[in-house]
Amino acid sequence: MNVLVTGGCGFIGTNLVRLILAEHPDLSVINLDLLTYAGNLENTAGLEEAYPGRYSFIRGDIAEPDVVNAVFERHKIDLVLNLAAESHVDRSIEAAGVFLRTNIMGVQVLLDAALKYKVGRFLQVSTDEVYGSLGQDGRFTEDLPMKPNSPYSASKASADLLIRAYIKTYRLDAVITRCSNNYGPYQFPEKLIPLMIANALEDKELPVYGDGRNVRDWIHVQDHCRGILAVASRGRTGEAYNMGGNAEWENIAIVREILTAMRKPETLIKYVKDRPGHDFRYAMDFSKIERELGWRPGVTFKEGLKSTIDWYLANRPWWERIRSGDYLEYYERMYADR
Ligand code: NAD
Ligand code: TYD
Repeated sequence: MNVLVTGGCGFIGTNLVRLILAEHPDLSVINLDLLTYAGNLENTAGLEEAYPGRYSFIRGDIAEPDVVNAVFERHKIDLVLNLAAESHVDRSIEAAGVFLRTNIMGVQVLLDAALKYKVGRFLQVSTDEVYGSLGQDGRFTEDLPMKPNSPYSASKASADLLIRAYIKTYRLDAVITRCSNNYGPYQFPEKLIPLMIANALEDKELPVYGDGRNVRDWIHVQDHCRGILAVASRGRTGEAYNMGGNAEWENIAIVREILTAMRKPETLIKYVKDRPGHDFRYAMDFSKIERELGWRPGVTFKEGLKSTIDWYLANRPWWERIRSGDYLEYYERMYADR
């Protein structure tokens, strides 16, 4: 069976491609990735040789119909796992256009190709952020109305609605996963956890937005990837499935945990200007996927954070190369007047 993974050179995509190749010998992977600032070909280096005939990479834009159609012409695709996206909330606040292009128009192009080439199933990797923000209590369930608050989450919610329309209108076999904040190896060091680890290692300030009391639910990327594959193979068509890590943490508590684990002083913490429209809290009710597919997260946050810190320590050249390139300019702009 041929699986098209889009965004396979990004954080979650890399982990997913590696998991499929290592654990599902019946599956071959075609990885379509534009290699934006967030896509890193180093992440998938050596996979062609390690898995002969089972892995191929194509550089291309999911929002370009000619590019996408050419992929489907060349390969008989049985399953699409769409992870290609612009994924960082802060960047979407700076410039929304590319988020709408990739996260909405790109999905439309992929959906049209899935219909045209009669793909067996289309899985959209969405996010808990489509539900908006919670107060102190409650959890997101799949039947809540979508109330996105950032250009990023609005673009992801738009894609979810478009998929619903294709399911209803064209009877497309599609499923959606909505997951909480991921962490683990290969995460681009602009997101909270790898940014804080890298800054702490370099004895740089750790910029905490607002009062640091915002809450996220954290899931190890391996657990997320296993859930994606469970939904792809056994999820009910037309359904959305929440996933979470059962690990609600205030940002400041995570930052402190990282500093303690790395034996760095808390004086590195710097409270900076809050993110505009900053969602207060995300928490997931994932009883549906637990009940229907038997999926649940396996990695505890404490264990996962420790192994993630170890990964960033062992792979320092990986993130140093990233931080010395284009990202440097972004970092200076983003944190200049905070
Ligand atoms: P990422 O930013 O690390 O990677 C995105 C990848 O998509 C990159 O390799 C990039 O080159 C590629 N890409 C971007 N635009 C493209 C285009 N037009 N055509 C082809 N490829 C393109 O993102 P991530 O954190 O790995 O997230 C993957 C998916 O999971 C996204 O859809 C995101 O919305 C979703 N998600 C992420 C999280 C999280 O915590 N990171 C949580 C829930 C859902
Ligand atoms: P992030 O990793 O950007 O994920 P998301 O916004 O999609 O949840 O941010 C996680 C939390 O950490 C969020 O509440 C914003 C906060 N944060 C900081 O306090 N400082 C930072 O430098 C970053 C990048 C995030």
